[in-house]
Amino acid sequence: MSFDRYGVMGNPIKHSKSPQIHKAFADQTDQEMTYTSLLVPLDGFASAVSDFFNEGGKGLNITVPFKQEAFAFLPECTERAQQAKAVNTIILRENGTLLGDNTDGIGMVRDILNNHDGRLAGKKILLVGAGGAVRGVLGPLLAENPAQVVITNRTFSKALDLAEEFQHLGRVEAQPMNRLEGPFNWIINGTSASLGGEVPNLPEEIIGEHTWAYDMMYCKNVTPFNAWALDFGAEKAFDGVGMLVEQAAESFRKWRGVMPTTTSVISELRG
Ligand code: ATR
Repeated sequence: MSFDRYGVMGNPIKHSKSPQIHKAFADQTDQEMTYTSLLVPLDGFASAVSDFFNEGGKGLNITVPFKQEAFAFLPECTERAQQAKAVNTIILRENGTLLGDNTDGIGMVRDILNNHDGRLAGKKILLVGAGGAVRGVLGPLLAENPAQVVITNRTFSKALDLAEEFQHLGRVEAQPMNRLEGPFNWIINGTSASLGGEVPNLPEEIIGEHTWAYDMMYCKNVTPFNAWALDFGAEKAFDGVGMLVEQAAESFRKWRGVMPTTTSVISELRG
């Protein structure tokens, strides 16, 4: 009997940790499956997805830069993928149709609640950034009933647009970076500033003695954003490794119907 085939599509894809994560999940739960990384040409996404499933593939993860294109391409998507306007997981249903899902937001929420013993209900949360990463977590974050979510962004108009779009899901508003009213319980970085070794231009007064920082990015050492937060007195700072593993676990659960244990895989990735 041949193993069920899964994979992650992106460009670039070489450095993806998803094959390592899903192999660990499959070993742990005795699933007969393979999971490989698939480099897709920038203009060849739709045909790559069609070919993969026509050739018997069972499920896909989608990463940069194809998440929005996947959302546009798939005729059916879950509510959380519709909120995110992005798909990171494609599920082949029993009737042969494809369903687009997005597990990024729930991945971050579970990492905070389960791995860091954090609370979100009743908390004052600052989300920094207004691109795809922030859009992806807004719905699941608001579902945890925080007291308030404030979105701030270098280009303020984008924060305003996002806040307006998510109004109906909870208490969310936009504030410019130079007029933030802290301190916040959580400051969550969803910008890509760290990629260039930069930190968003935030006032340090937004950090109080019980502020916890969360960077959706991760790198070998402490991220520039977390270093900034800790320097100015944040109580704790977490990076995005847990979010990466938790979003993968939720994809795996949707495909295989079994929830893997994440803690050992997070430790393995940290090395
Ligand atoms: P992603 O899909 O990863 O969120 P994106 O949609 O390009 O990527 O969004 C990147 C986000 O990081 C934006 O909020 C961007 O701010 P602008 O809207 O003002 O461009 C933010 N960002 C990137 N570099 C930044 C920097 N050096 N300082 C502050 N914000 C930055």
